[in-house]
Amino acid sequence: MEKYLINPNQKISKIRKEIYGNFSEHLGRCIYEGMYVGEQSKIQNINGMRCDVVNALKEMGLPVLRWPGGCFADEYHWMDGIGPKENRKKMINTHWGGVIEDNSFGTHEFFELCRQIGCEPYICGNVGSGTVQEMSDWVQYITFEGISPMSELRKRNGREEPWKLKYFGIGNENWGCGGNMNAEFYADQFNRYNVYVRNYYPDRPIYRIAGGPNRDDYHWTEVLMQKCRSMNGLSLHCYTGTGNTALEFNEEQYYSTLKDCMLIDEIITRHSEIMNRYDPQKRIGLIVDEWGTWHRVEVGTNPGFLYQQSSMRDAIVAGLSLNIFNKHSDRVHMANIAQTINVLQSVALTDGEKMILTPTYYVFKMFKDHQENTLLGSYITSEKIGQNGNVPSLLESASLNENGDIVSTIVNTSATDSSEIHCQIADTNAICDIKSEILTGSIHAHNTFTETDNVKTVEFTDFTKITEGFKAKLPPCSVVKFIIKR
Ligand code: AHR
Repeated sequence: MEKYLINPNQKISKIRKEIYGNFSEHLGRCIYEGMYVGEQSKIQNINGMRCDVVNALKEMGLPVLRWPGGCFADEYHWMDGIGPKENRKKMINTHWGGVIEDNSFGTHEFFELCRQIGCEPYICGNVGSGTVQEMSDWVQYITFEGISPMSELRKRNGREEPWKLKYFGIGNENWGCGGNMNAEFYADQFNRYNVYVRNYYPDRPIYRIAGGPNRDDYHWTEVLMQKCRSMNGLSLHCYTGTGNTALEFNEEQYYSTLKDCMLIDEIITRHSEIMNRYDPQKRIGLIVDEWGTWHRVEVGTNPGFLYQQSSMRDAIVAGLSLNIFNKHSDRVHMANIAQTINVLQSVALTDGEKMILTPTYYVFKMFKDHQENTLLGSYITSEKIGQNGNVPSLLESASLNENGDIVSTIVNTSATDSSEIHCQIADTNAICDIKSEILTGSIHAHNTFTETDNVKTVEFTDFTKITEGFKAKLPPCSVVKFIIKR
């Protein structure tokens, strides 16, 4: 029996809803087909946005969406994507499959998508191949109400009011596809571009996110923390690469995926330690704006489209990662899984007018109860499993909502064994009610366009209330949520 302790008196940090964000790029079928089909499409849409996808993202509680890339962002010239669609420039998407990008989805369409979903827009600007003026103009076009060349242009393009833009990224992966820069050079670029990302309204300041390190590049973080004092957030990219396809893997590969995923805990801890030295108040957020599994593409699909199926293995990665982000919510202020639809670890896949939800979708939907809660101190004992014993059999996080209920999410990573747990909540003599949900299946379980509901959340009942908490038996390969009223 594993011991699970939750301490409601130990209130650690706010779990910002933005930890549950998504990332969407002009890559493969993420934007085009996945989200935007155009007004003339037979697929049900509102102003070109597919209704099934928008509704699913709304229900999932998506708080923030990052766009337009990724590598694409540093080659994107926003002026190509405004004005009458027939006049918009066509370009080649050099990073992703060499396909024609017709720019029919641009700034106006992105804000319309976010409006329909009800999420905050997070735009990533072009440092790699764009100018300071171009970036400055984009921000003016979006946010400025008064008289200026860019606000007049926006009005001529049919949008009288400015939009609300909170999050703006100054470049993406500038150590790689965003310009091949070293940390010192990028830091100077950040400082220069950032000056011209104007705050037109003091009560609506833009939250500026600097292009951050890849995985464990601690030098990058050190340099940026020294030199870029005006950033609000520092991005971090950390993928879980597997080398196999989403559905063809064995148990050994399952555990090595989880081992790689767990590294993000150490990576965040070490970046945080560096940040703590320069910013002990934790004002600067670590923004994990690209994370998730990166498998080999599905056979027969364009390798540049990064299309992969999604199984319970991915759901376990999502559950582990989100629990880890919750536990680091003092420093991790946002995270965006890559990428929303049809690319990498998507929450939904589409095929023409059909759409399916992936196991990862259900994890996001379950975990949305943590959004804006207070992280509580918690601890769960577990075995070390996998080839070299480097994967914990259980990982949890717990939070307190505004009604005083405890939300607890636990992942049982074992491919084969259930786990009995005994949960004790400090200073608790009576439990009024517990509601629980579970997502479980074999490590390969997944949904298809013909079997859409193989994997989905169902009510979980294999637990008993006790005076100070509960006892439960968690099946193998499962993600379980408890909402506890005391
Ligand atoms: O998400 C796919 C790509 O991965 C992004 O464009 C880039 O930022 C990262 O390397």
